Amino acid sequence: MLYRVVPLTLTSSQVSEDSTELLVDEFNSRFNSNELLIVKNNDHYEVRLREVVIKQLEMVVAELQKEERLNSSILSNVLSEIKSQSSYGLSGKKRVYVGYNEERKIEGRKQKEARRGRHFYTNGAEFDEQSNDVPAPYTNRILCGDSESVLANLPDNCVDLIFTSPPYNFGLGYDAQEDSDQWQNYFDKLFAILDECVRVLKHGGRLAINIQPLYSDYIPSHHIISKKLMESKLIWKGEILWEKNNYNCKYTAWGSWKSPSNPYLKYTWEFIEVFCKGTLQKAGNRDDADISADDFKKWVVGKWSIAPEKNMKAFEHPAVFPEELARRVIQLFSFKGDTVLDPFVGVGTTCVVAKKLGRGFLGIDNSEKYCETARSRLEEQLTL
Ligand SMILES: C[S@@+](CC[C@H](N)C(=O)[O-])C[C@H]1O[C@@H](n2cnc3c(N)ncnc32)[C@H](O)[C@@H]1O
Repeated sequence: MLYRVVPLTLTSSQVSEDSTELLVDEFNSRFNSNELLIVKNNDHYEVRLREVVIKQLEMVVAELQKEERLNSSILSNVLSEIKSQSSYGLSGKKRVYVGYNEERKIEGRKQKEARRGRHFYTNGAEFDEQSNDVPAPYTNRILCGDSESVLANLPDNCVDLIFTSPPYNFGLGYDAQEDSDQWQNYFDKLFAILDECVRVLKHGGRLAINIQPLYSDYIPSHHIISKKLMESKLIWKGEILWEKNNYNCKYTAWGSWKSPSNPYLKYTWEFIEVFCKGTLQKAGNRDDADISADDFKKWVVGKWSIAPEKNMKAFEHPAVFPEELARRVIQLFSFKGDTVLDPFVGVGTTCVVAKKLGRGFLGIDNSEKYCETARSRLEEQLTL
């Protein structure tokens, strides 16, 4: 029979072995072994978990906690350990912890994938695999200028990760531009910069782009930009939903209140679209991966709940993203020692985090004021 095995800490200096055994017996006697079973395996205990009604589990724990001879905090640990396990879904009222492969087993998966054509839109891609170095005047710098022109000075295939948030054309009023161009002009300019980004990205490098569409103009920028990058033959690796928990518009913007005539959809999140050049696999030394097991497990679930940046006023910039967002992207998609580029660096968040994490960096912005702030943030870091 299939189980998920979860190690448990049932022993403590205050609890005798007899008392633990008693607790295990009492606990097991209240469940069917098809549901769950605590067993001793050599010197430790584990729960073999198959399916369970959480409400019933809570009731059993509450009932056993009334018995003085059983250790209440150990019972609480068992409960929270089981509740922290993610299940594959519900069968009736039971949470199901095993059997995903059986239910989802697809016969001849490989042949079917080949028939469908995985990332078929990259067929015919001809990316050179030879990497180049970023020239010294562009290494670990914040440069002021138009990104299209600045990037034209870099060789092909020289950066490992691009993480950026372009202007969204919302009319935010950046220092060096209004941010409210005709949509076609906006996309033409953005695409010219993205062409340069694709060119300077190494084979195996990643481009992660944070986008918030302008819903009130009915422009799905995240789809338009993703289509452009797929036409540039990058592989779409996936999408991260950045849950900011704040609305993109007034809470009272209903469109047509209580009527289907034209309800207005509201959002509390932005997107990060992630692309790879040439291959999904990134070359790198395992020792240069600096992500913990816990962070890895959390961050590969593509919904990140992170509060928006609180210091925008102090930075005098209207659209700064939080360091935590950059940290996750950088640690999940690059190795220590890699080079990270942000062609719309604003007040330097990507580069500040890249530096902290032992990556090389290049940040570009067309506002000298923002570049100055970015440079001082990097200097402050030096003195920390
Ligand atoms: C959304 S903000 C990026 C903010 C940044 N992520 C941060 O945390 O500070 C976009 C930035 O792009 C810059 N920008 C707009 N057009 C540009 C261009 N053609 N070349 C370089 N930077 C540009 C703006 O000045 C603005 O700071």
